This record gives sequence, structure tokens and C-alpha cells, in this order.
Amino acid sequence: MTTPLIEVREIGKRYGGVTALEGVSTTVHAGEVTCVLGDNGAGKSTFIKILSGAHQHTDGELLVDGEPTSFANPRAALDAGIATVYQDLAVVGLMPVWRNFFLGSELTKGRGPFRHLDVERMKRVTLDEMASMGIQLRDVDQPIGTLSGGERQCVAIARAAYFGARVLILDEPTAALGVKQSGVVLRNVAAARERGLGVVLITHNPHHAYPVGDRFLLLRRGRSMGEYAKADITLEELTSMMSGGAEMEALTHELQRPDAPVVARPADDA
Ligand SMILES: Nc1ncnc2c1ncn2[C@@H]1O[C@H](COP(=O)(O)OP(=O)(O)O)[C@@H](O)[C@H]1O
Ligand SMILES: [Mg+2]
Repeated sequence: MTTPLIEVREIGKRYGGVTALEGVSTTVHAGEVTCVLGDNGAGKSTFIKILSGAHQHTDGELLVDGEPTSFANPRAALDAGIATVYQDLAVVGLMPVWRNFFLGSELTKGRGPFRHLDVERMKRVTLDEMASMGIQLRDVDQPIGTLSGGERQCVAIARAAYFGARVLILDEPTAALGVKQSGVVLRNVAAARERGLGVVLITHNPHHAYPVGDRFLLLRRGRSMGEYAKADITLEELTSMMSGGAEMEALTHELQRPDAPVVARPADDA
């Protein structure tokens, strides 16, 4: 058994008097996808803020490469190889794909007064990195704004990997997407895993998590409902364990009764 890239042990987070997370444990391994599932308010964002250095845990332990760690800020997490890929990618729409890929970290050649941008190399690396994610760019000079959302996300993932990320965190990357675009995003996740990255995928959709996930952490109201390896849980079990599963089942039974009201009451915490 290799040392996980990340291990959390009974981790917790209190915001003043509010306990957002309590007693949560899981691992993230190279070449694996750890899915964090839970309904609104489950503590998913709090969990990844701890991993990404935006917040610090108040209980339990965070281990990176087996070493107890607490990231003072997102820069520290990034330096440890933990990158968060946001949905609203900070892209400049008219900028060519390769420029966006190297934005702020441009490759140069030559020395002193002869130093200049190594445009050819940046274009070649961008093409190669995208190809290794399964996307053949038609034209590396095309404006990033002309790519689909899924392709732009792929640029962000490839970029993070090229600049040294070992763990990618994706917070609800499919939440606002239709079936087709969700498929592109999940393919990106699978490609990242194939490249040997550890991926933390946050979602409230078990149908998105199950095909790409290697392990599943279920959160509900800040607490762990369990952590399962794929071999130990079916999609049906995962779906029914999700917050709301029990309520939906009860509602289904209720509505099947002959005297059931025609219009269902909205769920309490919808
Ligand atoms: N900065 C904060 N201060 C106080 N409470 C917070 C803060 N952030 C989150 N919470 C609370 O922690 C709980 C979990 O929130 P969050 O991690 O955003 O859940 P999720 O991403 O699963 O919807 C919620 O009850 C939320 O109100
Ligand atoms: Mg959230």
C-alpha cells in the first residue's frame, strides 16, 4: 500500500459556534478519484477549502504524503501540489489557448537583453498537454473563448498538471451542465486519473460520481455517513444513501397511497 497523497483523519471545522464539519476521514491516492457526495449544507465546500488552504481545520488531522499539515493559504496548498480547478475559469476570452495556458508563467529563451518569449515551445507544449488529455486542438492560436466549457476545463486541468499539481480538486464541476457537457467534464476527470493525478470530485449527483469514482465519501449535515471503495457499494446503494434518498422514498410511498394529496408539499430543506 503506497502512502496516500492526502489523508484526512477525523477532520473537523468549527466557524465560531457553528460546526460545519465533524469527524470526517478519507484518502486521496495517485491515479484515483475520491468523490465527496452530499446535499446542500453537507460540508462539501468546507471540506475542500481545508484541502485547498482557503480555511484551516479546527479538529483532526490533515496528512500530505504522510506528514501532518495545515495550509496557511491557497499558495501553500498549491506548492504542495494541490490545485483547485474552478468553474468560472479566469480566462481572457480573446486570448489564444496557448497564451492562456502559460499566463503568468511564460516560457522564455535567451539571456539578459536577448531574453524573449519562446512562443513555439509554448504552442507545442499546449498541444501536447491537451492531446494527453484526449483533446486534439484544431488550432492552438484559437481564442480560448471559442472552446466549449468542457474544453476550457480541460485546459485548466492540463495546465495545473503541467505546473506540478498532483491533486486536483473540482467543486461541483457538473452542477450547472447538461448531460453532454457533464460527459465531457467526467471524461476530463477520467483523463486526469489516467495521468496519475489524484482527483477530489465534489458532486451531489451519484450518477456522475459512480462511473469515475474509486472511493466515495458521503457527507450529511457536516458528518460522514461513511466512506466506501467502489467494490463495496453499488450505484443503487449510493443513490439511496445520499441525503434525501430516505425522504424521497418515504414521499414515494406517501404519494402511492390512494388518499395521497395530488400536490406534494415541498421538502423542508429544499
Ligand atoms: N464561513 C462560514 N461561517 C459560518 N458557517 C459556515 C461558513 N461556511 C459554511 N458554513 C456552514 O457550514 C455548513 C456546510 O456548508 P458548506 O461546506 O458550504 O456545504 P456544501 O458545500 O456541502 O453545500 C453549512 O451549514 C454552512 O452554513
Ligand atoms: Mg458547496
